Amino acid sequence: MKVLLASHNKGKIAELQALMHTISPEIEVLSMSDIGFYEEIVEDGSSFADNALIKSRTGARLGYITVADDSGLMVDALDGTPGVYSARYAGEECDTEKNNKKLLQALHGLPAEQRTAKFVSVVACSFPDGREDIVVRGECPGCILTEYRGTGGFGYDPLFWYEPMQKSFAEMSQAEKNQISHRGKAMLKFAEEFAKIKF
Ligand code: IMP
Repeated sequence: MKVLLASHNKGKIAELQALMHTISPEIEVLSMSDIGFYEEIVEDGSSFADNALIKSRTGARLGYITVADDSGLMVDALDGTPGVYSARYAGEECDTEKNNKKLLQALHGLPAEQRTAKFVSVVACSFPDGREDIVVRGECPGCILTEYRGTGGFGYDPLFWYEPMQKSFAEMSQAEKNQISHRGKAMLKFAEEFAKIKF
């Protein structure tokens, strides 16, 4: 069976590919570039679920069973922002470094107990035959460091401290991160729902 991952984010594709493989090694995972789709999908929904469904339904319209994740960082001291705007927190022309710098500045001077945050991931799956979408959510609590730690991962990983492992997300191996991350948890729920489907 072929499943399309509707994302252009290389870090996310690598994580989702590994997670799909744990669901079933028989699933052949395709990326948007594998099918020659290079357009930007406009994610203008107001929630993670809206945006995940915009992406998964785009793939389903192209004829593929399509999985998409919409995710982001919600910082308590910033009233849950950047949230759905995590990818473009520092503006339309931003990059990871600008986003991370803006986050450090926004929390400048705040003590550890006021730096709590969570990563959220909503995974959606849509089907070309019109059957009902699957939508599941995973969360991972942590707090925002005052300086970068680690070189792995992507996005806000070097600033996200995960207390139970005493590591930032950027200090974890991909397998460690997938075990406890928001996306890993959402994908586990997704696997349970996907396994119930009769094809
Ligand atoms: P999306 O591609 O619209 O879902 O954007 C999600 C954004 O949230 C990414 O570009 C990152 O900035 C951030 N993000 C989501 N998940 C993670 C993660 O696991 N580590 C670091 N940053 C993440």
